[in-house]
Amino acid sequence: MSEAAIRLVDVKKTFDGKEFVVNGMNLEIPKGSVTAIIGFSGTGKSVMLKHILGLYRPTSGLIEVLGQDISLLSKDELTIFRRRFGVLFQGSALFDDMTVLENVCFPLTEHRPEYSEEKVIEVASKKLHQVGLDPKHFSKLPSQISGGMQKRTGLARALALDPEILFYDEPTTGLDPILTEMVDNLILETHRQSNGCTSVMVSHDLEAAFRIADYVAMLNAGQVLLFGTPQDFFKTEIELVKRFVAKGMKHR
Ligand SMILES: Nc1ncnc2c1ncn2[C@@H]1O[C@H](COP(=O)(O)OP(=O)(O)O)[C@@H](O)[C@H]1O
Ligand SMILES: [Mg+2]
Repeated sequence: MSEAAIRLVDVKKTFDGKEFVVNGMNLEIPKGSVTAIIGFSGTGKSVMLKHILGLYRPTSGLIEVLGQDISLLSKDELTIFRRRFGVLFQGSALFDDMTVLENVCFPLTEHRPEYSEEKVIEVASKKLHQVGLDPKHFSKLPSQISGGMQKRTGLARALALDPEILFYDEPTTGLDPILTEMVDNLILETHRQSNGCTSVMVSHDLEAAFRIADYVAMLNAGQVLLFGTPQDFFKTEIELVKRFVAKGMKHR
């Protein structure tokens, strides 16, 4: 296996000092891969992601991202380190009072002070183009475009700083099947276009996870129950994994 983009070693997290919502998690996500995180709801997928993003600190254990032990970073250093990530959550989390273009310019203006205004607009436009958004929508507000275009805008904004890791948390939850397929394909296309980028996607959509991911990690009760290729999942003997996969793939 190639170098790890993300490494978790025996990570534990309790919020209340009693219950461990992450309970000895071990995981290595290879650099350059698309990795899907799956599992029943409430098993710690989002909490795990927030640890990797440095938004939560583990109670114990090691979290290494891009070779960096993130527990050693101060708050300010973390903020800077996080610019190497792009994040797209379920709601696209766009600024309602900014146009499509302004939304994508925002991280650039914020974190690339050396860029001229022209350069910011040029880079933002390029990212919007990459995700397939027509320039005629650039000056619209999020409320004036479709849900699919909002996703594209959110993704363009996540791509603005050329991230080394792209995180998606339930990017297609609540979308209709056609939009879901569009977003899944967009994730894969974006991954292919972003050279050497690592993509990590939490998904409730197993069909998509097994179709687009190189590796899949199934979490259960705050641990990794199985990590492997989609093939590994189809031939596993672990009863809980078998049941989860069978349920999720029943429409095949
Ligand atoms: N900030 C928090 N404080 C306390 N408990 C939390 C917090 N965030 C998540 N949890 C709990 O951690 C568990 C895992 O949540 P989560 O990671 O969001 O699940 P999911 O796998 O559905 O993404 C849940 O029991 C949830 O209630
Ligand atoms: Mg979640």
